[in-house]
Amino acid sequence: MCGIVGYVGTKDAAPLIVDGLRKLEYRGYDSAGVAVHAGKGIEIVRALGKLVNLSVALEKHPLLGTTGIGHTRWATHGRPSEINAHPHASGPVAVVHNGIIENHVALRLELEGLGVRFLSDTDTEIVAHLVARELAVAPGKVSLFVAAQAALRRVVGAYAIAVVSKDEPDVIVVARSGSPLVVGLGQGETLCGSDIPALLAHTRDVVFLEDGDVAELRASGVRIETVAGEAVTRPVKHIDWSHVQAERGGYKHFMLKEIHEQPEVVEATLRGRIDLAEGDVYAGEMGVPPEVARTIQRVYFVACGTSHHAAIAGRYWVEQLAKVPAVVELASEVRYRDPIFFPTDLVVAISQSGETADTMAAVKSAKAAGARILALSNVVDSAIPRSADGALYTHAGPEIGVASTKCFTTQLAALLLLAVYLGRRRETLPKERAQAVLQALWETPALMREVLGDADYMHLIAKRIAKATDVLFLGRGLGFPIALEGALKLKEISYAHAEGYAAGEMKHGPIALIDERMPIVVVCPKDAQYDKTFSNIQEVCAREGQVIAIATRGDEQMLEVAQHIVWIPAARDEVLPLLTVLPCQLLSYFVASLKGNDVDQPRNLAKTVTVE
Ligand code: AGP
Repeated sequence: MCGIVGYVGTKDAAPLIVDGLRKLEYRGYDSAGVAVHAGKGIEIVRALGKLVNLSVALEKHPLLGTTGIGHTRWATHGRPSEINAHPHASGPVAVVHNGIIENHVALRLELEGLGVRFLSDTDTEIVAHLVARELAVAPGKVSLFVAAQAALRRVVGAYAIAVVSKDEPDVIVVARSGSPLVVGLGQGETLCGSDIPALLAHTRDVVFLEDGDVAELRASGVRIETVAGEAVTRPVKHIDWSHVQAERGGYKHFMLKEIHEQPEVVEATLRGRIDLAEGDVYAGEMGVPPEVARTIQRVYFVACGTSHHAAIAGRYWVEQLAKVPAVVELASEVRYRDPIFFPTDLVVAISQSGETADTMAAVKSAKAAGARILALSNVVDSAIPRSADGALYTHAGPEIGVASTKCFTTQLAALLLLAVYLGRRRETLPKERAQAVLQALWETPALMREVLGDADYMHLIAKRIAKATDVLFLGRGLGFPIALEGALKLKEISYAHAEGYAAGEMKHGPIALIDERMPIVVVCPKDAQYDKTFSNIQEVCAREGQVIAIATRGDEQMLEVAQHIVWIPAARDEVLPLLTVLPCQLLSYFVASLKGNDVDQPRNLAKTVTVE
C-alpha cells in the first residue's frame, strides 16, 4: 500500500520525509518520490525501486526547503516506473495519493478534452490537474485549501492525498476519504503520514483525520474542514505505542492486522469496477476483452495453496453464473502431466505474489498450446501478469504474514466479479440476478466487519481446541474451498494436523477418525446445501465429535447439535465464502498465538515459492 509523509516546519524537509518513508517500508512499495518547496518553486525527485535509489537521486539533486511531501508507491493504476512514481505535478502544484479514484476514466477523458496532457498512467495525476485548474480560475485569489476542496468534490473513490503549491510555501493541504491519514503535531512543526510510525520520531500527539476531512497544515498547527467547507474539530490523541507496535497498527502480529484489514481491501478491490445500475462489471478492469469473454469454451484455473482454494470457488461461480465449463488444477501438478489446453481456453492463473514458480510453469504450458492467459494477482507487473494476455488485480496491498488472509478474500471478490462479467457477456446471467449478486458483494465488507467484531469468541474456542493434534474441516459447495482453506491455515501456523474435506466425502473415509477428542469445524451457513451439511453434523454428533459450526445467525436447530457456534450474518449464497472464511482464519491465528508460534513467519514456509 502506498505511503505518504509530509513535513512543514523549520528543518530541512527532504531527509525527514525520506526517513518517514523508511518507517513505512513495511507497507511495501515499488517506487518513491519527494517534492519540496525549494524557494522559487516545487522541485521533485523520484526513483524506481527501493528508497536507497531515491536517496542516491537526492544526493545528485538535493532538495532544500522546509515544506515537502513524499510517497512510496504500490502500483494499482499504471506499472511501476519512475514516470508513474509520485509526486505528480501540474502547474504550481504537486500531489501524492494513496487509494483508487473510481471515476478516473471519465475525469481523464474530460481533462484530455480540455487540452490537458497527461505524463503518467496514474489516476493520481488527475487530482494534480484538477487542483491546478481550480487555482487557475482566479490566480492569486484562491487558496490551495479551497482549490483542493473544490477538486475533491469531483473525485469519487478512496483517497488520502497531500498537496503542496509553489504559491503557498508554508502550507500542505491533506485530505482523506477511505484511505488512512494521520496528522502529527510537533513543536513548531506539523507532519502527516499514512501511518503512525512515520511520525513517531517527531511527535506522539496526533490527529486522525476522518473520511471527508480536508486539512491545512502549517508549522503552527492544523485547521480542518469537510470537503463541503464546514469547519470541524478532531481530538488530539497521545500515542504510546512502540515503533514495532505501530507498524502492526497496534496488533500483536501482521497476520491479525491483515485479517482485520479485509473489509477495507475487499472494498478497494471492488471499487470502480461495478456498475450496479446495469448489473455489470466494467470490461476495462477485467483483463478479458468482451469478444474473448463471449467465445471462450472453457475456463481453466491454475494456482497453488490458498490461491488454489480461491480457484475452486471461482469454478463454482463461473459454472453457475457464466455457464462455462470450468476446471481447477494445482499448478504444481500441471507440468507433470500432459495437460490438454485449447486456443479457446481462458486460463486463469491465480497468484497473489505473481511469482510462484509452479504457477508460472503452468502458464508457460498453456501459452505454448495457444490458450489465452488471464493473471489474477496482487502485485502489478509481477512475472505472471507480465507473461499473461491480461491481468485482473486485487487491491489487498502487500501481505506480510506468510499465511495468506486478505489476499484470499480479495481473490474471491475478483473471481466473483469475473464470473459476473463473463455471464453478462455470454448472456447467461440475467441483469436482475447480476444486480442482486453485485449488490450483495458490495455490501459484503460491512458484513465482514460484523463477523470480525466477534473475534473474542474465536479466541475462546481456540483455547478449547489448542491442544488438539487433529482437526477436521468440512464444507459443501462454496463451503468446500473454505474447509480446505481453514485446514491449510491451521496447519501452516499452528502446526496441528488438519484436514479439509468435502462434507459429502466424510462417510467415504474420514468418519473413521471421529471420536470425542476430534474437533470438527463445519462450514454450514443457510445456503442451498444447508440440509445436506446439517445431516453431516448429525452424523458427527452421533460419533461424539465436537462440532464447531460456522452458521447463519438465527439458525435455531444448530443450537441443538453444535458445541460451539460461530454466527455469521445472513447473506446471498454467492458471497458466503467471504464471510465463512473469517472465523477459520481467526481460529488458526489464535491457536498459533496461544502456542507461542511465530505466526507471521511459520517454520519451513516462504511467502513466495520461487522454486518448483
Ligand atoms: C498461503 O497461506 C500460503 N502461504 C501458500 O499456500 C500460498 O498461497 C501459495 O504458495 C501460493 O502463492 P501465490 O498466491 O503467491 O502464488
